[in-house]
Amino acid sequence: MAYHNIIIAIDGFSSCGKSTLAKELAKHLGYSYIDSGAMYRAVTLYFLRNQVSISDPASVAEALSNINLAFIYNETNKTSEIYLNDENVEPYIRDMIVAEKVSEVAAIKEVRKFAVAQQQQMGLQKGIVMDGRDIGSAVFPDAELKIFMTADPEVRVMRRFKEMYVTNPHITIDEVRHNLELRDYIDSTREESPLHRAADALILDNSNLSRDEQFHLVLEWVRERTKPVKA
Ligand code: CDP
Repeated sequence: MAYHNIIIAIDGFSSCGKSTLAKELAKHLGYSYIDSGAMYRAVTLYFLRNQVSISDPASVAEALSNINLAFIYNETNKTSEIYLNDENVEPYIRDMIVAEKVSEVAAIKEVRKFAVAQQQQMGLQKGIVMDGRDIGSAVFPDAELKIFMTADPEVRVMRRFKEMYVTNPHITIDEVRHNLELRDYIDSTREESPLHRAADALILDNSNLSRDEQFHLVLEWVRERTKPVKA
């Protein structure tokens, strides 16, 4: 007996733990994991490095034509990492300087077209877990399992603060809170595929769930949707 491969779309506000859950699921199911936010962060890093004016459509179009993104699996870290024009940019894309700009960049229609086309290509074979803001609503509207994650805002701020503190001990809780509030606001109110729960997405509030409890709950949802078929 074998299980159908499906597409699992995980959306939600920043720092809800989407990537933790997505990575665990992908590992367990033998699926690939794609962090769509990493693509918007890598594009933003390129824009910052090359001083691309986001209000000038011609500059944006030219910049996008010079960007090549790829995910390459890192055997040591057991996760896929994003490459921007052949450079592994994982060490830079989570910095505050990128976090401060990424939502503005991700709101640009041409940037979204650029990223979404590649994301849809990656889902053609199914067997994929992708997390982001518009995965269930725009990238894979037919995904077999859609999850919309939420968590208490202060829980999210503290989670992200602890993550960022490791590489930047000067960061403050207020800076992190301000960034999350701003990104959530821009992401939810932008014109192009704003963050919203797809009507058929299951809500997962993990404020009071352990990582293990959350994982097993979602695994049940996966099993319900991957009916066994004859091998
Ligand atoms: O890790 P966190 O949830 O804070 O953010 P992320 O997934 O790395 O995404 C960074 C930013 O990219 C978000 O705040 C959105 O502005 C944008 N994004 C998006 O617009 N659409 C997606 N599918 C994924 C991310």
